[in-house]
Amino acid sequence: MFSNRKTTKILIADDDDLVRNAVEKILSMFDYRVVAVDSGKAVLKTVSDEFDVIILDINMPDMDGFQTLEGLNRMKCDIPVLFLTGAGSMDYAIKAINLGAYDFMTKPIDDIDLFHVKVKRAIEKRGFVLKEKNYRKNLEHDVREKTKELAEKNVLLEEYSHQLEEATVQVMSSLQAALEEKDMYTAGHTRRVTGYALILGREIQLSDEDILVLKRASHFHDVGKLVIDLSCIQKPGKLTADEWALIKKHPEVGANIIQPFSFTLRERDIILHHHERLDGNGYPHGIGGDDLDILTRILTIADSYDAMTSKRNYRRNLTEMEAVEELRRCAGTQFDPDLVEVFATAVFDKKTTVFH
Ligand SMILES: [Fe+2]
Repeated sequence: MFSNRKTTKILIADDDDLVRNAVEKILSMFDYRVVAVDSGKAVLKTVSDEFDVIILDINMPDMDGFQTLEGLNRMKCDIPVLFLTGAGSMDYAIKAINLGAYDFMTKPIDDIDLFHVKVKRAIEKRGFVLKEKNYRKNLEHDVREKTKELAEKNVLLEEYSHQLEEATVQVMSSLQAALEEKDMYTAGHTRRVTGYALILGREIQLSDEDILVLKRASHFHDVGKLVIDLSCIQKPGKLTADEWALIKKHPEVGANIIQPFSFTLRERDIILHHHERLDGNGYPHGIGGDDLDILTRILTIADSYDAMTSKRNYRRNLTEMEAVEELRRCAGTQFDPDLVEVFATAVFDKKTTVFH
């Protein structure tokens, strides 16, 4: 069923010329291609995957049939081996089978039909082995191809998501730029607040991921002011209650602006709460304590410090020393006291002078 006889190749080994020639003749009569050798060593030298069956004599000088079979086993050869045994040597036959021989045949070969049946069965066995090997090879190939395909798709997806993220940040930056056109104070304020926040974040050794979130949140924290009529906060003098109420809307407005960008969920929360206080008396939600995460706490300090040290229309600016004193005065109520101390040290280490 598997073999075309003309392509079926059989390797035989027998040191006895008469037997070897006889076996070769019989096999050639059945149209098999035969390679005949006279020793076990020659078998190990000649054998290759092209052969379908190996027929081994047992008694050969140098290397007998068993040793040859062991050599073939070491080479991980999976070609069926048929042993030729002298009549009456059943022990040999059993030993051969135990070593992994496929079958044995007695010599001299009296029953050619039986001999041929055994050879054909061995060829069939080889066909099954090759078919299975091929199947496994194809399967491995298919699995490898599919894995490769999946990996390529993953890379594309990752690239796409990365590009989307970058495009989104660019859109946000354009919004921010538009805001800064409207209000020069906010332009400098955003840059400085981002700088202060990052100094504090690095000082407490935030992870790279947290630093990125803090940077984006700081950069866009006042983006909500984009849609607020800023003429009221640019006028000289104090703001009215209505004007304050309007300004107090900017955290929610800002959070709503970045809401559609799914990768900015953490930034959104920080922007929404950047005017909350530790004691819960801030806006818009009046949350405090453990509900204020560390990045939000950092931003509130950076934001307030810059608001205090920068010149605004509606109040005079404080010196660095005065601003730090104010942060300390409000530590525990408005700000996280530990973070205030880290920040104060960083400020007096002059790490912040670049922002003035
Ligand atoms: Fe703000």
